[in-house]
Amino acid sequence: MTGCCVIGLQWGDEAKGKLVDLLAPRFDIVVRYQGGANAGHTVVDGGQTYKLHLIPSGILHAGIENVIAPGVVINPATILDEIDGLVARGVPVPERLRISERAHLVMPWHILEDVILNSQKVGGESIGTTNRGIGPCYRDKVGRTQAIRVGDLVAADRDERIRAVATAKSNWLAGLGATAEDLATIEPERVAALCGEWGTRLKPMITDTTERLLDACEAGSDLLFEGAQGALLDIDHGTYPFVTSSNSSGVGVSAGSGVPGRWIESVIGVCKAYSTRVGGGPFPTELTCATGDRIRELGREFGTTTGRPRRCGWFDAVAVRYTARLSGATHLSLMMMDVLSHFEELKICVAYELDGRLIRRLPSSAEEVRRCIPVYETFEGWNEPVDDATKESDFPSLAIEYVRNIERLVGVPVGILSVGPDRRQTIFTANAPPLPEPVVAG
Ligand code: GDP
Ligand code: IMO
Ligand code: MG
Repeated sequence: MTGCCVIGLQWGDEAKGKLVDLLAPRFDIVVRYQGGANAGHTVVDGGQTYKLHLIPSGILHAGIENVIAPGVVINPATILDEIDGLVARGVPVPERLRISERAHLVMPWHILEDVILNSQKVGGESIGTTNRGIGPCYRDKVGRTQAIRVGDLVAADRDERIRAVATAKSNWLAGLGATAEDLATIEPERVAALCGEWGTRLKPMITDTTERLLDACEAGSDLLFEGAQGALLDIDHGTYPFVTSSNSSGVGVSAGSGVPGRWIESVIGVCKAYSTRVGGGPFPTELTCATGDRIRELGREFGTTTGRPRRCGWFDAVAVRYTARLSGATHLSLMMMDVLSHFEELKICVAYELDGRLIRRLPSSAEEVRRCIPVYETFEGWNEPVDDATKESDFPSLAIEYVRNIERLVGVPVGILSVGPDRRQTIFTANAPPLPEPVVAG
């Protein structure tokens, strides 16, 4: 084993954070490689809950290195707050965290722009971003002329560069309708001073993570890659334009981390036993009825980053089969099985009806996905609690049948089952992925 990836196969919030924290003691390095503080990864450790946005979910364990690789977009104020919060709770983040000098910075102007553009509609609907400046930052990264990278925070020509970009952004945002109060927050001298403070504080953690990771691979270290968002939000392969601005499916691992595919041996596709989505965009199996409300209530489906209620619906095997193939999933980790313990009847979408035709693929156009009517297989609910189960055989036979049906419909074995937010509420099945033995204490 060298590389193992944890990838969300739905629209995010599949409980990747729980899984990464649980698996981290088996690995030497945990790597975040795309996305930014739009992510909200929850880790529950002995009654304590941690909500991580930028810091990798291996951070609670001693002896493990946590890396933020070049593909992540970092808001310096957010990461410093997150570091301070964890340090106050006794987690020595600076000694466990390394940040790539190549990673791009989410600057205050990106947030202003995200908020302004979020009020606009595309295809009749707002994307409903997290307002964390993600899209504008990635756009500047690709555009190159107005981008600022982590390395710039500690470069000799920092102030000059920041002032030039801040002036250009101020003029441009004024044209987009930003208020005088907003523009005061990106006044060039003010931002240059902030960058000075950010650079001083982050400097001990800034390094060439690409070189570090390649050395680690060649030395036989075990790496755990932590995906953010979910594959259906992938900029190239998701339900565009209702997506995020990075490659959140498995295809993003190498581009974002700098680690070539030859080092990656297993890909754990994480999915809930049902579906959720937060923000705009098509969602064929969405339940806008009491059943959807019940899933939201039982699963406490409210956004970790924005607190927004998540849209809920049945498991969509057409969409997950697509993202499992796209991400090269070798195993599935099926989460929230406990939430489905309270239903007489469960449904799984096995095909769509689109304009009178039966299809078994996810259309590339959001407009077409919106017109897809789910075709369901119906299953009898097990209707008894599973949150105390410690092995698959503790499950009621109807729950085991539900799992087997997901494997059949997605085409990938379920290696891990989750029955609650706590680390202990996790079951490794007979098809569990080949993982290294734990190397450090939890
Ligand atoms: P992530 O973004 O993929 O890391 O997921 P989030 O942290 O945003 O959302 C997952 C939520 O489900 C968190 O509140 C977790 O504590 C919780 N959770 C994780 N696994 C389970 C599970 O098996 N059952 C239940 N009921 N909750 C879970
Ligand atoms: P984790 O890592 C769920 C959604 C937003 C919006 C769209 C674009 O916790 O699973 P963005 O701010 O990225 O430009 O928003 O993507 N979104 C997420 N939904 N979980 C996330 O992250 C998300 N990150 C972004 O709601 O629909
Ligand atoms: Mg989340």
